[in-house]
Amino acid sequence: MNECILAIDQGTTSTRAIVFDGSMKPVATSQKEFTQLYPASGWVEHDPEDIWETVVSTAGEAIAKAGLQPSQIAALGITNQRETVVIWERSTGRPVHNAIVWQDRRTEPLCARLRGEGLEELFTARTGLLLDPYFSGTKIAWLLDNVSGARERAERGELLAGTVDTYLIWRLTGGRVHATDATNASRTLVFNIATQQWDSELLSILDIPRSLLPEVKDCGDDFGITDASLFGAPIAIRGVAGDQQAATIGQACFRPGMMKSTYGTGCFALLNTGTDMVASTNRLLTTVAYRIGGRTTYALEGSIFIAGAAIQWLRDGMKLISTARQSGELAAEADPAQNVYLVPAFVGLGAPHWDAEARGAIFGLTRNTGPAEFARAALESVAFQTGDLLEAMRRDWGAPAGGTVLRVDGGMVASDWTMQRLADILDAPVDRPIVLETTALGAAWLAGHQAGVWPGPEEFSKSWALERRFEPRMDHETRAAKLQGWHDAVRRTLTQS
Ligand code: G3P
Repeated sequence: MNECILAIDQGTTSTRAIVFDGSMKPVATSQKEFTQLYPASGWVEHDPEDIWETVVSTAGEAIAKAGLQPSQIAALGITNQRETVVIWERSTGRPVHNAIVWQDRRTEPLCARLRGEGLEELFTARTGLLLDPYFSGTKIAWLLDNVSGARERAERGELLAGTVDTYLIWRLTGGRVHATDATNASRTLVFNIATQQWDSELLSILDIPRSLLPEVKDCGDDFGITDASLFGAPIAIRGVAGDQQAATIGQACFRPGMMKSTYGTGCFALLNTGTDMVASTNRLLTTVAYRIGGRTTYALEGSIFIAGAAIQWLRDGMKLISTARQSGELAAEADPAQNVYLVPAFVGLGAPHWDAEARGAIFGLTRNTGPAEFARAALESVAFQTGDLLEAMRRDWGAPAGGTVLRVDGGMVASDWTMQRLADILDAPVDRPIVLETTALGAAWLAGHQAGVWPGPEEFSKSWALERRFEPRMDHETRAAKLQGWHDAVRRTLTQS
């Protein structure tokens, strides 16, 4: 029986395709970066054709590297950068504009207007989200209002919209399937997470025609079959989830109280709250963790926009290091007596502050401050921000029985120094698994399970294996002083109190 699964992980800066074998191990990987477009300050776009090209080429290459025929792939799972939106022509598949990326801040004036009209409570109650430019809804509204003829064409039913998964499914199936999954839908600001339906009242507030939007399916479902011409044989698409939700699955966080944090461009911590839709009183998001077999599991999410991107800034902007790997080594050399804090609000601050207008700041510089202190401040900023998220989660949900353990993944977790500092700041153990490809693994599991060739959640959970646990070692006084310094720096950076 064919048990190999292809996962496509369409991320913010690159696309990865990974083939997993029947024992759920990655056997071949292909990765391609693509161009980031910054047409104006705070604006971030992707050319959908670039995304499409990297998807087709990496998928083909991963299958070839695995030494497989496409007909030997049992199913395809898709995971993707969330919230980013594309609008395209139904008849040709041609996008009417570049994709507007999740990091893009252009819709802040619209969000501010809606907040001013007192509508945030309604949006939060229905969607679990906040009125921040991060989410898809205001981006769709912007496209309809700013691309010439788009609104009229949308009303005539000539256009379709979707997050990146939806666009890829449409293209992969040769325009036969217009669908998304519940996790991606839960990031759009127009999806009611209680009823699991598009919300007509929110759609009408944002003036988005319902006909633009895809059908919302379970994460493991029938998403159609890829056009045979693409890979040489049709492949069934059986799993879809937004990348942070896929990582939650890949980390086997199936029980309420389990939590993961992924350190990519940004950092996203998700706490499984089971079938409880926990409303946050601490500015976290309530979101769909996964929907399997028609049953919805929810999560509390803390979203930080800059994590690994701070290391990229040290490397490409400040030129203090030549590889990301060096950041931990350099940070380890920093002078313990210096208290330098970086608040990496390069694109505003996400949870729990949600300050779109804040910008980055550095505090505590002295005549002796050098590259090592900058590197430590950048890495510690990621730990401090994670600490703020976990604190908000504790307040919203209470401490999970057995204490908090954080499962981590993403590029930054390779650094032992960073993971130790994370455990120290959190005052909680940090677990790094052996398989770090958790995002792709989560999508592969959804597809493999749905296709009936991979096991159910319990057996899959048993395959999760710890590589190393980082236990907190910092003394209470040092931690308290550092946290105070950080919170003081954040307070001075926020544009709203
Ligand atoms: O919400 C945005 C998130 O899905 C992006 O993840 O890993 O592509 O930075 P990543």
